[in-house]
Order: sequence, then C-alpha cells, then structure tokens
Amino acid sequence: MRLDRRGFLAASFATSLLAHGKPAMTAPARTAPTCNVELDPTGLTKQNIPTPALLVDLDAFEFNVKSMAEHCRKSGRGFRPHAKTHKCPEIAKRQMAAGALGICAATVPEAEALVAAGITGVLMTSPIVEPVKIARMISLVKREKTTMLSVGHPLEVELLSQAAAAAGVDVDVLVDVDIGDRRTGILPGHPALELAQFIAKHKRLHVRGVQSYAGHASHVVGWEAREKSSREAMGKSVATRELLNKSGFDAGILSGGSTGTYNIDSTIDGVTELQVGSYVFMDIDYRRIGGKTSGENYSDFQHSLTVLATVVNATHADRVSVDAGTKALDTTTNWKPEAKGWPGLTYNRGGDEFGILTLEPGAKLPKIGDRIEFIVPHCDPNVNLYDRIYATRGDKVEAIWPVAARREPSIG
Ligand SMILES: Cc1ncc(COP(=O)(O)O)c(C=O)c1O
Repeated sequence: MRLDRRGFLAASFATSLLAHGKPAMTAPARTAPTCNVELDPTGLTKQNIPTPALLVDLDAFEFNVKSMAEHCRKSGRGFRPHAKTHKCPEIAKRQMAAGALGICAATVPEAEALVAAGITGVLMTSPIVEPVKIARMISLVKREKTTMLSVGHPLEVELLSQAAAAAGVDVDVLVDVDIGDRRTGILPGHPALELAQFIAKHKRLHVRGVQSYAGHASHVVGWEAREKSSREAMGKSVATRELLNKSGFDAGILSGGSTGTYNIDSTIDGVTELQVGSYVFMDIDYRRIGGKTSGENYSDFQHSLTVLATVVNATHADRVSVDAGTKALDTTTNWKPEAKGWPGLTYNRGGDEFGILTLEPGAKLPKIGDRIEFIVPHCDPNVNLYDRIYATRGDKVEAIWPVAARREPSIG
C-alpha cells in the first residue's frame, strides 16, 4: 500500500492510538505560560511512549532533590534552585517541598509559569531591559510580592522604578554582580555600591542583597581547580555584600553558585543561598568535571534525564538509525549523547530527525524497533526541545509533567 504524507501521518496517529489504547495526546498550545498537554499516564510504559520522548527517572531525580536539600541544611545555607534547567512547575514544587527558599527564573515566561503554579520567592536572575517584559514582571510582583528581580544597570533600575510606581507596588531587588563571567551584572565593589545607592533613590525599589553567578567556575575540570576558581569569584561577591552592609544597606541575601560548585560555595562565609540548577537531572557535560571524592566522574548526583528513542532503520551491518536527531537531542556541546546500557555504540548526528549509532568492534547491534535511552550532553537546552517530561519509575510512567515555559523568541 502506498501512502502519501497525509495518509502516512494519519496511519502513525492511528498506530499510536492503538498502542496506547486511548486517544493520542493533543498538540500542546504554544502559548506561555501554560501548555496544553495530556497528563494521563495510565497504561504508559517505556515500551509505548511515542518517541522521541524526554524521560526523568523518579528514583534518581528524588535522590538528587533530597541530597541537595540535605547538603544545604547541613551547611546552614538556603537554596533557591534554578528553573532554567527544567522549566517545569511540577519539579519546582518538589524542590520547594524539599525546603527551597524559592525558585530562580531566567526568562519572564519561566517566572510567570512559576508564579502561576503558586511558587513563592521567585528570583529573576537575568537582566530585563524591555519595558514590555518589565511590565510583565511587575504584574507578577503585584500577584506575588515575594517575587524579586536582579538588576545590574541604571537603565534597568529606571525602567523598573517607573513601572513599579505606575502599578503602585514595591519591588525587592538584588544587585547582580559580575564576578568574572562577563555576561551580566555590574562590576564588584564600588560600581556595585553606586548602583545600590542609585536603586535606593527610587522609593518603590528595595535592595535586599547581591546575586552572582560564576559560570566560568561551574564546569572547571578537577575539584581543586574548580574550588580555586569559585572561591576567587565568590570572594568578590562576599566583599561587595559586606561593602553594601557597611554602607548602610541591609543586604541579607547573597545568592549564587552552581551544581559544580555547590559544596565549595556552601563553605564560603557570606554566601547565604545556592541557585543550583542541573543537579536535578545531571548531564554528560557535568559528569566529566570530576568530584571532590569521586574521581574523574562527578557522581554526587545521579543521571535522571534521558531521551528515549526508537531504532527505525537497521539496513546496514555497521549502523542503525534512531528517531532522535537534532530536534530531539541537543548536540551543541562537544559531548555526544550516550546510549544507556549499550556499550560500544557511538551516537552521530544524522540530521534533523535521525541519529546514527555506529558500532565498535564486538559491540551488539540493536534491532529495528528497539528502544534506546540516551543520557544527554547538556540538560537545559535538551529540556527546551520538549513540551512534556515523562516521569518514570522502573518501566512505568508515573506522571507526565508539562514543560511550561519553553524558550520561544516572540514570547520571551
Ligand atoms: C544565573 C545562573 N544561576 C545558576 C545557574 C545554575 O547552574 P547549574 O545548572 O550549573 O547548577 C545558572 C546556569 O546557567 C545560571 O545562569
């Protein structure tokens, strides 16, 4: 039987319906901050989820959430995990239940999705300089007054102050201090103090502390080298917070840190909370940095995130194709997706729709129809390719969590 494209799509839809035994999922609406995802996991297993699909292994995920929370509790630090990693309110809720002070957001839709889900203590860590986005942030502050912004330039202060005055709301802000990342924020020391003094001239804005992200330290390979790099960077932030406090500010918060430096930053006096992100999922980029005690593989947290794919071609003796190409697996880093439980297979890019698995001598070749899970090179951009996360325990899907705030250029 010959099928045209439309007929082919209808046939695949019917097959997925048959396999699942209930109507296929509706296409998610591409509007922020909510997404229209069928959330019923009944009858779903790793054998019948339509692939490619994003999976989180609940045992590993729960271990990660608990380990970080326990570490912070024992170190006497707060934590405000970063939603840029997962963009998923269901995960944010679990982090809050584990004791988080709030949740960080990198984009306005992330902040909107978090506040809509009832999350308190949202901290916007990115600079916001577009008036339309500032207005959206002010609406969030109006709705949930514990929402904070970080600011690193007088223009942001002026725009924020105008919008806050017009809406009649008070806004808590952190001074975003650039401690070596050279990406966002104002320089440490006196430039940061001058910005704080400028903020203080705007009566609706209130300086609550300092925010610093040392992205250049988070992935330094080798624990000693990473420790040196993070201490050096965070030291500038600690000194800036002290300067603010000596100058009459009540800078109670110093928020910073990352998954790679959590057990370094939590020993630095003056760091009050960690804005860790990737620890919930882990990825290959983080695995290779090495741990304090775990040698070359950083194993403080477990790999909970995978992409599930199906072998769709096995014509050749030396390779198979899977249905996960660049639209399903982010390959923008130097690391390759890793086929879990299939030693000797190497993932190669096979275009938008396909990945090609080639074989080392002696390795076992998968068959057409086999399902393979891949550990992803970099978790954040990989999550951003999906509308939903299948939360699995063993083979079974326990829940389906919407990725509520995918980065969409026209939305934010
Ligand atoms: C501002 C900010 N804070 C915290 C993080 C969390 O870092 P990680 O995912 O390495 O824990 C990031 C990650 O890029 C970030 O940009």
